[in-house]
Amino acid sequence: MGGDDMSICRFVNGLLVSWGAREQRLVTQVPGRMNTVFLNGAYQPKEEAKISPMDRGFLFGDSIYEVIPSYEGSMVGFALHIGRMNAGMAATGIGLRWSEDDWRRLCEELVSKNGGGNLGIYLQVSRGEDTKRYHAFPDGVEPTVFGFVIAIPEPQVADKKLAKIGRVATAQDYRWNRCDIKSTSLLGNVMLFQHGYGNGMSETLLFDTNDELTEASAANAYIVSNGKVITPPLSPHILAGVTRHILLSILREDGSIAVEERAVTREEVLQADEVWISTSTKEIVPVVEIDGKAVGDGEVGDVWLAAQALYSSGKFDY
Ligand SMILES: Cc1ncc(COP(=O)(O)O)c(C=O)c1O
Repeated sequence: MGGDDMSICRFVNGLLVSWGAREQRLVTQVPGRMNTVFLNGAYQPKEEAKISPMDRGFLFGDSIYEVIPSYEGSMVGFALHIGRMNAGMAATGIGLRWSEDDWRRLCEELVSKNGGGNLGIYLQVSRGEDTKRYHAFPDGVEPTVFGFVIAIPEPQVADKKLAKIGRVATAQDYRWNRCDIKSTSLLGNVMLFQHGYGNGMSETLLFDTNDELTEASAANAYIVSNGKVITPPLSPHILAGVTRHILLSILREDGSIAVEERAVTREEVLQADEVWISTSTKEIVPVVEIDGKAVGDGEVGDVWLAAQALYSSGKFDY
């Protein structure tokens, strides 16, 4: 956030939410609200939910998670999120067999028990609780399923003045080579996010050892050059974002904005007319500053405006 941003706090869905003037930086839950979680097969108050220290999610970060946005009870990308979680469990050999309907029931219960509104439904499946700390996958262990909700901002609006914007830092992407798995082993992401956040920014754009863009620490990344939206292709080095999938599908179907998936160099990012990042809880965020330098003319761009408008009107079809 630049020095001219004033911090403002207000209550959204009973949660204290603090923004920079146009940039969300922190969400803090007020005790006693939105408090019902799902753990070990039961809905219970968050304070009563207990996980064993021998759970492999705690000891090794041996678990998979999802965050599904729900606006006034309507989820965006539900089947895509569950598909990605199932792919993550298959890739890591976590043997939970829940149907899409089982997950849908859990999500709907969490939303209704926590009062609805704008929520991120957090789902996590760990390999489960072992009796020892030993790297090999244990036999006969039941996966731990955990679900709770977090407050998320109101949906992004396709309006240049009202849009929540991003100012970001850059860093070398030093995470592992399976970033396509949405694992809770997020120490690299956490440290890279903090690199930007600790310097007053809202995210960090990541570049690999060839100085090519991968993604941001908790979002996918795009540039706009000569009217075309360009984003790195899917690979083990980025998460296959559900928002990315929905956005690219909508843009391709609409056809008015060209889309290309290819490698993007740091030089291209710094010369781009527009830069965006996307995530389920914030949708498409125009980045107006990178490492203190303006992106393009430093204003929210026309291509973002058109793309966010298309996303806003099409997202509930996914
Ligand atoms: C590393 C990373 N990349 C991309 C994304 C965006 O994914 P999605 O659009 O599915 O929220 C996230 C979301 O948390 C993320 O953590």
